[in-house]
Amino acid sequence: MIPGNHDIPGLNHPYDRFARPFRRYRRFFGHALEPELRLPGLHVVGLNSTRAFGFHADWSEGRISRDALARAGRRFAAGPGGLRVLVLHHPLLAPDGHGRSVVDPLPALLDLIGGHRIDVILCGHFHRSHLATVGPDESWQGVVSQAATVCSTRLQGEPQGFHEFLCTEDRLDVIRHGYQAGRFVAQATFSFGRGGAGWQAVE
Ligand SMILES: [Fe+2]
Repeated sequence: MIPGNHDIPGLNHPYDRFARPFRRYRRFFGHALEPELRLPGLHVVGLNSTRAFGFHADWSEGRISRDALARAGRRFAAGPGGLRVLVLHHPLLAPDGHGRSVVDPLPALLDLIGGHRIDVILCGHFHRSHLATVGPDESWQGVVSQAATVCSTRLQGEPQGFHEFLCTEDRLDVIRHGYQAGRFVAQATFSFGRGGAGWQAVE
């Protein structure tokens, strides 16, 4: 689990927001803001993109510090291999016509993805389902899964939903589930195959 912009106190609680923004999050979800999970064949690294304030107009937007990027890089470099998964709250891709900012700095994040051959990037924030491949250039492409919200009532033009991953070493099937008539139903499957330059959409 990693924090999102609604996991810190609002501006109506200025002391908590600026002096101890993650205090309540840590009380309920544990101390680590960037947890790491290692399982056989799977290495998951969290990245905290949530900021209490900054030198940008909209403080709900995602920012990643140089330290956090370096830390994630060290973790992947020292990792056990297998499927490499990066998790952050803020998205890398803006859906067509969306007009909202993606996480910053995106080029540095893409370099991290390419440099460590990260297979999957999980994020959300826009409450819009979006699956694509992304990377620094043709040398490496990872699969970005931007999921809709699971349980928020703040909808952005589509119902609640989530992505289910079925993985083998060289194939990912991502099933998009959406909330429909009182339950989640599988709505579509997006498949990706892995080659020497990462992942690409396949039938
Ligand atoms: Fe968010």
